[in-house]
Amino acid sequence: MIGAQWGDEGKGKITDLLSRSADIVVRYQGGVNAGHTVVVNGQTLKLHLIPSGILYPNTECVIGSGTVVDPEILIQELDMLESLGISTENLYISESAHVTMPYHRLIDQASEERRGDHRIGTTGRGIGPTYADKSERTGIRLLDLMDPEGLKKQLRWTVNYKNAILEKLYGLPPLNPEEVIAQYQEFSKRLRPHVIDCSLKIYDAVQRRRNILFEGAQGTLLDLDHGTYPYVTSSNPVAGGACVGTGVGPTMIDRVIGVAKAYTTRVGEGPFPTELNDSMGDALCDRGSEFGTTTGRRRRCGWFDAVIGRYAVRINGLDCLAITKLDVLDTLAEIKVCVAYEMDGVHCQDFPTNARHFARCHPVYEILPGWQQSTEHCRSLKDLPQAALNYLKFLAELMEVPIAIVSLGAARDQTIIVEDPIHGPKRALLYSNGQTLLA
Ligand code: IMP
Repeated sequence: MIGAQWGDEGKGKITDLLSRSADIVVRYQGGVNAGHTVVVNGQTLKLHLIPSGILYPNTECVIGSGTVVDPEILIQELDMLESLGISTENLYISESAHVTMPYHRLIDQASEERRGDHRIGTTGRGIGPTYADKSERTGIRLLDLMDPEGLKKQLRWTVNYKNAILEKLYGLPPLNPEEVIAQYQEFSKRLRPHVIDCSLKIYDAVQRRRNILFEGAQGTLLDLDHGTYPYVTSSNPVAGGACVGTGVGPTMIDRVIGVAKAYTTRVGEGPFPTELNDSMGDALCDRGSEFGTTTGRRRRCGWFDAVIGRYAVRINGLDCLAITKLDVLDTLAEIKVCVAYEMDGVHCQDFPTNARHFARCHPVYEILPGWQQSTEHCRSLKDLPQAALNYLKFLAELMEVPIAIVSLGAARDQTIIVEDPIHGPKRALLYSNGQTLLA
């Protein structure tokens, strides 16, 4: 399951829905930049790293090798869950995952400040610098953390190396290597029981025909290789990232489910063609409670963009889509959908990966009538007002992908299951059979 926009598509609720039939839920990329809110026994919890599948006693959760792990925040999440009586025994962390260190957070924040007008608008959680060290081959992995003597040697060198950057480039005070070593040795004791070979665990589960849900964090347009570079995160939220980020071969993935909001939001900097800098944007933000889980930042809001939708279908090979937050549009008299872009007077249907071109794209809209009535209570397509059904059909046809799930509110039951998202037909087959896109 992946995000088909710029993250925050409401994946938490869809994961929760799909987790019920999953034996294992796996995160394959990103770190504590992600965040989802879950309600347990009337209490609201914020999780950044641990999949919400942990709330189901029989579901195993894996934090894969493509993720970056901030042990301090992970341990806080473990403590919080345990204090609520929720067992964390079923949480496994890949030994190959890279570890976010104090210097990563400092460098993330200092480099954003230094970038000025060129800032990315990161979450400031050290994600980019952790992945940069992984590529530079100076990273610390969970397996390094599990080797106390090796860790000492490695950190004495690395902290001194990073101190040169902190002091000379950013004018920040240096870190004390011995303090960092002592702190991370403590973390390693706490995390040790959870550390595993992620690929082996998943392969074994595949052999035993277990259901495995790979849960993408962030979204397609934030993908390092396929998103709106440089305004992206430093990992691969696209479906292909699930293979690289867990050590599972592509032939083992049965279906790819995309999640998109009925409109669009984005946090951080970067071009956003359908952004609404007016009272309509404010209305979407307020009705949709569009504030980040991790940073509390107000999300930028705009109309649904079917050009990026089609791009997400292509890049991820989506079999079907879940459309979330349809109810946020309930009060509107008319709704715009971006069907194409116009760039320097030229009409284009395809998403331009060149960021300079993307920044010059203007949306070409089609206007659809709104339904101006509540959909929150609808439980099947038949309950939906005709205009809402037409809106969904329009989106499905524009993106050439079936809509399997429609979400109309935060509650579990505020959901329409149009077709089985897990066992439905493959999208390619659907097209060759000439079937309709939405029942
Ligand atoms: P980073 O991942 O903290 O490096 O931030 C890079 C970009 O990704 C920024 O625009 C962030 O706002 C965005 N971003 C990171 N994580 C999320 C998320 O979970 N939801 C939405 N945007 C995110």
